[in-house]
Amino acid sequence: MPVQRSDPSKAVITHANSSVEVYYYGCTLTSWKVDGTEKLFLSKHAKLDGTKAIRGGIPLVFPQFGTLDGSALPQHGFARNSLWEWKGVVTENAEQLTVAFGLTHENISDEMRKAWPNEFALTYEVTLTASTLKTTFAVTNTSQTAWHFTSLLHTYFHVPSVSDVRITGLHNISYKDKTQNNAVMSEASPIIAINGEVDRVYMGAPDIIKITGGSDVSIRKWGFEDVVVWNPWIEKAEKMSDFGNEEYKNMVCVEVGSVAGGVQLNASETWKGGQTLSVV
Ligand code: BG6
Repeated sequence: MPVQRSDPSKAVITHANSSVEVYYYGCTLTSWKVDGTEKLFLSKHAKLDGTKAIRGGIPLVFPQFGTLDGSALPQHGFARNSLWEWKGVVTENAEQLTVAFGLTHENISDEMRKAWPNEFALTYEVTLTASTLKTTFAVTNTSQTAWHFTSLLHTYFHVPSVSDVRITGLHNISYKDKTQNNAVMSEASPIIAINGEVDRVYMGAPDIIKITGGSDVSIRKWGFEDVVVWNPWIEKAEKMSDFGNEEYKNMVCVEVGSVAGGVQLNASETWKGGQTLSVV
């Protein structure tokens, strides 16, 4: 069965030797397996019952990255905490299977609508091929006036050992270091290793980023401007209730997004951004 929807909380999609699981809560992709190997990290302590954003997989950040002075929205917005609608199979052929999910302002909580009183329609398309996972996020402004948003595909990659991880593609790119009060630096290293807490927003990043060191993946982004690299390391891991103290060793987040400047969207316009993850 290429699409299984017997579990009311998630859809399981299979194509060739690949599969994905997508929770309707947050439209969070929690698993991507290729030839039986899991490529995404999902915390053993993740809440999967809709009481908290899912810790792992690919949570969707919209319409706000992080927290913002003067904004009533919670950290990373409401898309990851809202119940999305199954929109059905878009394409199914020998090469690929595409399914879609949707969310509008009518489906979010009253509290969130009050915090962000704009009208919108979101579509998230998930495309599976034998060795790639493509996720396309489309945002339509259905209000009468323009509004602004920031957004991110908050991808948690599973890695055998974070000490072996190497990230390439960000050499000489300016980044804001969230661990240093958002100090702006330039990436001096052609190959980034993770040896401690990392929380960086690479601004105007190239479209192709590679992660090597055990569970190798190449990321190709479009529409999105920036790339966030995050690993909480020891102290932050201990502070998160839905993340094991040792789990920082088996994950790295490399997140494509438009977060530094964000996107200004006029009434009736649609913006699209996405990523293709390929096993290398
Ligand atoms: C990253 C941010 O994208 O998400 C970090 O850059 C943040 O600052 C991390 O800690 C996790 O956020 P949350 O809300 O899921 O705990």
